[in-house]
Amino acid sequence: MGLIEQAAKRLEELKRAGVDVPVAQDADADSVAKAGPKSPSMPSAAAQMLADAPNPFRERSPTPVPAASSEANDIDEKPPRRSRPVEIDLQRLAAAGYVTPTAPRSRLADELRVIKRPLIGNAQGRSAAPIQAANLIMVTSALPGEGKTFISVNLAVSIAMELDTTVLLVDADVARPAVPERLGLSVDKGLLDLLTRKDLEVADVMLRTNIERLSVLPAGTPHSRATELLASDSMVRLVAELASRYPDRILVFDAPPLLSSTESRVLATHMGQIVLVVDAERTPQGSVKQALAAIEQCPVVMTLLNKIERVDSGSYYYGYYGAYGSYGQ
Ligand SMILES: Nc1ncnc2c1ncn2[C@@H]1O[C@H](COP(=O)(O)OP(=O)(O)OP(=O)(O)O)[C@@H](O)[C@H]1O
Ligand SMILES: [Mg+2]
Repeated sequence: MGLIEQAAKRLEELKRAGVDVPVAQDADADSVAKAGPKSPSMPSAAAQMLADAPNPFRERSPTPVPAASSEANDIDEKPPRRSRPVEIDLQRLAAAGYVTPTAPRSRLADELRVIKRPLIGNAQGRSAAPIQAANLIMVTSALPGEGKTFISVNLAVSIAMELDTTVLLVDADVARPAVPERLGLSVDKGLLDLLTRKDLEVADVMLRTNIERLSVLPAGTPHSRATELLASDSMVRLVAELASRYPDRILVFDAPPLLSSTESRVLATHMGQIVLVVDAERTPQGSVKQALAAIEQCPVVMTLLNKIERVDSGSYYYGYYGAYGSYGQ
């Protein structure tokens, strides 16, 4: 008798014996194996990555059906892991110039609407041609300090404010993480811990915020090889895992700058969409060109001109500059 037949037989026996056999798990603890690389909802790039590389999450996920050889009391009854709830001080966030669900309509919110519409449309498969891994959006720039974290946080909150979109904001600038500080959160574990510790699952380090539909994956415990880890095969597998485990979720990555290190470029090769932030005042044209060349393989690149100084008040705001890209190569 094959393994599957044995398991089915065992399942029948257990049911007859009155044992309540679990068949489904909490979404956060759901296994990749369940979706499988052939799942129609999985972005095909992610599916390919999963097919190419062994996935450590498969082994770690709770098994819904007991193995043929296990006894009734061997059934894995571990409760599904749940992400930790955290409270963002929305007043503080608004006071720091960020968009929030409770703040009145603002220029910032209007500008974000213009940027997020095409990103969400692509992520939800409404592009003219299908875009691989379109639910993975990386925010980057040529150089440090151009406003990546500012835009990432605003974009993630703004997308989460849409009724039908769930967002995971990933702090992928692992060498200089800034997302928790911007959101006023104190965190410990995160992305780097997932890449270095086999005992952790995504749900163990993911934070569920009080902004509905917004979760955060912090950068995690500082590591001497943080940047190498970000460009590692484990990271590729993790990105594939995140994209496939949450196909309905939009992932916004706050990434390192493109020209001062290589890891951001490696990460870029797995993204369906990239927002390239350009500091209107400071970024030299040559750097913008170099940055664009480094991410030219990405199906959708949207360039965002940030920190345009308004003549009337002297204050900064960011502006939508333009988008280009070949949609679904
Ligand atoms: N459009 C904007 N309006 C107001 N402040 C902004 C804007 N864009 C960026 N800033 C501010 O400029 C500073 C630098 O921005 P931010 O930290 O987001 O840049 P970064 O590209 O993430 O930097 P790093 O490369 O160090 O990660 C921050 O204090 C941020 O709040
Ligand atoms: Mg930053």
